[in-house]
Formats: sequence, C-alpha cells, structure tokens
Amino acid sequence: MAASPTALLTALLAMATVGNLAAPVAAARAFFVFGDSLVDNGNNNYLATTARADSPPYGIDFPTHRPTGRFSNGLNIPDIISEKLGAEPTLPYLSPELRGEKLLVGANFASAGIGILNDTGLQFVNIVRIPRQLEYFEEYQQRLSSLVGPAQARRLVNQALVLVTLGGNDFVNNYYLVPFSARSRQFTLPDYVSYLISEYKKILLRLQELGARRVLVTGTGPLGCVPAELALRSRDGNCDPELQRAASLFNPQLAQLIRNLNRDIGADVFIAANAFSMHMDFITNPQSYGFVTSKVACCGQGPYNGIGLCTIASSLCPNRNTYAFWDAFHPSERANRIIVSQFMAGSVNYMSPMNLSTVLEMDARA
Ligand SMILES: *[C@@H]1O[C@H](CO)[C@@H](O)[C@H](O)[C@H]1NC(C)=O
Ligand SMILES: *[C@@H]1O[C@H](CO)[C@@H](O)[C@H](O)[C@H]1NC(C)=O
Repeated sequence: MAASPTALLTALLAMATVGNLAAPVAAARAFFVFGDSLVDNGNNNYLATTARADSPPYGIDFPTHRPTGRFSNGLNIPDIISEKLGAEPTLPYLSPELRGEKLLVGANFASAGIGILNDTGLQFVNIVRIPRQLEYFEEYQQRLSSLVGPAQARRLVNQALVLVTLGGNDFVNNYYLVPFSARSRQFTLPDYVSYLISEYKKILLRLQELGARRVLVTGTGPLGCVPAELALRSRDGNCDPELQRAASLFNPQLAQLIRNLNRDIGADVFIAANAFSMHMDFITNPQSYGFVTSKVACCGQGPYNGIGLCTIASSLCPNRNTYAFWDAFHPSERANRIIVSQFMAGSVNYMSPMNLSTVLEMDARA
C-alpha cells in the first residue's frame, strides 16, 4: 500500500483526462464480490441455468422496476455496500458493459446456486463455481492492468473491499438437498462442517494471494428459518432444528478460521460478519424491526409462500417493506438494509475484529 487513496484518485483522474473520457471516474475504493445468490448481481443471466432471477416480480422495487438477476425485490447486500462506499453498484463480471473505466469500480463474480464445494448446486448445471470465480478475478486483473498498468492495477486491488458470501448452499443444495444425499452418507454433520471449513480456508488464502487485503466474510444465515425450510420441514412454524444445528456448527468455526488466518498473516485481512445473529434479531422479533412477518415470504406459494419459485403467477405481498423475506430463501431489500447497517456499525458480537465503518476510517488514514 504505497500510495494514499488521494494519490490513486489523482492518478486515475489524470488518466481519465488523458483518455478524454466523459463519464465520471470511480472515486470510491473498488469493490469485489464473490459467492452465491445472496450477492449475485446478475451473472446467471448470461448462463444456461435455472438459478436465475431475471423475470418479474424480481426487481419490482429496483430503481428501474425491472428484474436484473438480483434475488431481491430491490437492492441486494452488495448494492447497499456500494452505496455506503459512495460507489455505483458493481456490474456482474459476465456483463458486456463491464469494460473500460467501469473496471475501476470493481466487479461482481457471484453466481446463484454455488457453494464452497464444487458439487454444490450441481442441479443448476451451468453456474460459476468458486474456482472459476477466482480465475475470472485473475482475468479481470489482467484486463485492468492493460487499462491502467500493472502497478495501478495492483494498488486498486490491494485497496479494494472484498465481500465473500458462501456456505448456505453447501447445506441446502447439497447435504440436505435430498434425504440420504451422497454427502450426508459420506460425512456426519460435524465432519462435513470441518471439511467445508478446510475448503473455505483454501478459497480465502487464494483471495489473499490474488491481492485482496480487506475481505468481509459472511457466515450463513439461520438456514432452518427461511420460508422454504418452514414449508418443507417445519411442523409448527418453528425454525427447523437440524438446519439450525448445521448453521450453529459452521458459523463459529468460520469465525475461528478467520481469527487464525489473521493471526498467521499478522494483519486483519479477513473480517467476520455474524449474519446468523443479524438475521435472528429480526426473525425473533419482526415487529420491532417494522416487519409484519419473518416467516412468510412476500413472493411465492403454498405454506409460508415457501414452495417453488417466485414468479409472475405467485402470490405477492402488497408492501415489500413489511416482509423480512422477499422469496423463499432471500431477504427483502429492507432486511438487506438492516444487515448492511450491522456490517457498518455493529458491535464485536456482529463484526469481528471490527465493523466496516472502523475499517473504512482506518484505511482512509493509512
Ligand atoms: C474443484 O474444481 C477445481 C477445478 O475446477 C479443482 O481445481 C479443485 O481441486 C476442486 N476442488 C475439490 C475440493 O475437489
Ligand atoms: C462500530 O462502528 C461504530 C461507529 O459507527 C463505532 O462507534 C463502534 O465503536 C464500532 N465498533 C467496533 C467494535 O468496531
């Protein structure tokens, strides 16, 4: 981290002038996103897969009121983080619009359906699994390098914020996808969790090797409480205990992994976000967050609106802001805003070793 952010900005502005570019230059730090549908900004729109959110009513509350591939009624978590960075939303890496100076904003490599393991989400066929997301990150850096030169490119990546959201699908779309799944016959739950953590470690170390220096890593939400699982597995409307057990084994071990990695590296490269607790707050007490329900999805059908996909034929709630869940698996924009406000300002119980506002403040001074 040789140059200050101001020096970088000056250099970028100078380049923009040289290049005679009319559009505004990225002034905020760059932002890179890896993971699954919770953070996919539309990569799957470009792929032959069923894991997509590119038809109405997805996007009904997006600024354009059209579907974009985001699994939300409006903005998703990366969009709201971009807002906090004072940046425009990152484009999906597969978007043809991601070229020229748009590369300076960063990129979103996430793909709905994927997990830590390559065999997670196999039923979705053509999705961008993590090894490929990391290859695309390398390819991105080569493209950036041709635009601004290798030194600037390196600096932009080192100074960027990175978000990684993985793990939910390794349970929901793998271990628990069907009774007696291959993975559940191979591993007991505690052994499966250890295996996931050991694979996750390789992914995080590879990100660091590729230049990431501030990586926000979110644990899984309360997997047993999503409307899909209430519909499928719950008899009484309570969160499914087996999936809750999976999340409560996985999340503390992920937090421990992050502490160990930072200790070994000797710097706070990785930041753990306790997504489980952030969700549980409004799931346990929806009314105090302004939600009428945290059990029923806004868009869907069947019990809890938790069966099948959210489509134009689904039942749709009139006011998306009063629902914690938009569809059977994904939070509404309002819930996403609550989660990101915890990323920004949450206490050490939520954000460890520190929250994002502290990170942004520290890095601005560095
Ligand atoms: C996942 O696939 C990649 C290649 O796409 C491979 O390098 C890697 O070893 C695989 N991971 C596991 C755990 O099999
Ligand atoms: C989190 O952010 C707030 C400011 O938004 C700050 O006052 C607080 O000390 C931070 N907490 C931690 C643990 O970093």
